Amino acid sequence: MRTLIVNGTVVNAGGSQAADVLVDGETIAAVGSGLGGSPLAAGVDRVIDATDRYVIPGGIDVHTHMELPFGGTFAKDTFETGTRAAAFGGTTTIIDFAVQSRGASLREGLDAWHAKAEGQCAIDYGFHMIMSDVNDSTLAEMDSLVDEGVTDFKLFTAYPGVFYSDDGAIFRAMQQTARNGGTILMHAENGMAIDVVAAQAVAAGETDPYYHGVVRYPIFEGEATNRVIRLAEAAGVPVYIVHLSAREALDALREARDRGTPAYAETCPQYLFLSIDDMGNGFEGAKFVCSPPLRPADHQEELWKGLVHDDLQVVATDHCPFDFHDQKQLGQGDFRKIPNGLPGVEDRVDLLFDGGVRAGRISKERWVEICSAAPARMFGLAGRKGVIAAGADADIVIYDPTKRHTISATTHHMDVDYSCYEGREVTGATETVLSRGAVIIEGNAYVGTKGHGRFLRRAVARDHLV
Ligand code: URP
Ligand code: ZN
Ligand code: ZN
Repeated sequence: MRTLIVNGTVVNAGGSQAADVLVDGETIAAVGSGLGGSPLAAGVDRVIDATDRYVIPGGIDVHTHMELPFGGTFAKDTFETGTRAAAFGGTTTIIDFAVQSRGASLREGLDAWHAKAEGQCAIDYGFHMIMSDVNDSTLAEMDSLVDEGVTDFKLFTAYPGVFYSDDGAIFRAMQQTARNGGTILMHAENGMAIDVVAAQAVAAGETDPYYHGVVRYPIFEGEATNRVIRLAEAAGVPVYIVHLSAREALDALREARDRGTPAYAETCPQYLFLSIDDMGNGFEGAKFVCSPPLRPADHQEELWKGLVHDDLQVVATDHCPFDFHDQKQLGQGDFRKIPNGLPGVEDRVDLLFDGGVRAGRISKERWVEICSAAPARMFGLAGRKGVIAAGADADIVIYDPTKRHTISATTHHMDVDYSCYEGREVTGATETVLSRGAVIIEGNAYVGTKGHGRFLRRAVARDHLV
């Protein structure tokens, strides 16, 4: 199948140009002006007119949790529904978190995630590995996972009794990763201190979802961020902070980067567009319970500055949806029992275009950088994904920068019964999506096939972490 995309504006992180794009099979064959009339394009099967549209590399969401077991239930989207929703929102690659359960091996966790995803996905996917048990045997396993293209490991200073690791365990995993070339991802909040304050709040009758946001102090995120960065410095390994939400954590990151430490971070749309005020309104606030929690609104501008100055390199979603009408109800009477997580995989590209590019905060090239190019580079997909260039996978989004639409659970494709952005009007929408050369979204319809998405064996990214 050969497809020619004509008359569009190709937007890459490095610059934009009026250009046509020729797709041959699964990859991009050529990018240039007037390709339609060139011999290269003779006999194309399909021409797509992208007049007044941006032609951008498909989004890469490096933080999703399809079917994550958490808080006594499972994140609602499966790999089938979640990757289809991602595609509707202009995302053509996800990297999901496989989970090592306590007492099990990394291999068992990874095999379970392969079984969930294989044959289900609309778009390509990779895995990170959540480590909840660091011991001699799991440390040795880390090396073989890196060889299999699962090149990063997430550890937690949060969630005592679930995913929590102490400093010694984290440091051992960091030392191992310093040797095998992988990357350590950290959920940095001081879970031990949070549990103390949370218990005190519940004892005082403060049980509403709002208090989930209150007890997880920003300083607990700042402290843990500084601590894990310092541990990474001691181990001699780069570190990537996931879902950074607070000014205090950003300060710790900036200080580390200023002294030349290879420390990196993502933030998420919920920390840029929502605040702790959304968690008021009684139990409705459960819709917004995630960790780290939504912060007071004045943290948002700091995060935008972080994105502008490249102290934050990536925006990922931490997509982890639970239905409000049953799953979130597990926390009635005690906010500690509300499953943590929000839906978002479908909304990221539009929210950042509308609230970032159109609002004048970032350029459209920076939008492509934080949604696609940097994630590709930092997670071992450089050259394959995140760029419109000859030789790259033909993961392409034709984006209408003028189309207005309203985000709503009644129209979204994520398998969850609410939207955190219900009623929010945004300008900018995905129109057509190609995944490795196949059109999978056309207008408002999914025209792809279940199982088209392939597992991505990713390279170690150590040399590309910038
Ligand atoms: O609330 C969240 N973030 N749920 C997903 C698990 C995690 O910590 O990323
Ligand atoms: Zn986390
Ligand atoms: Zn997460």
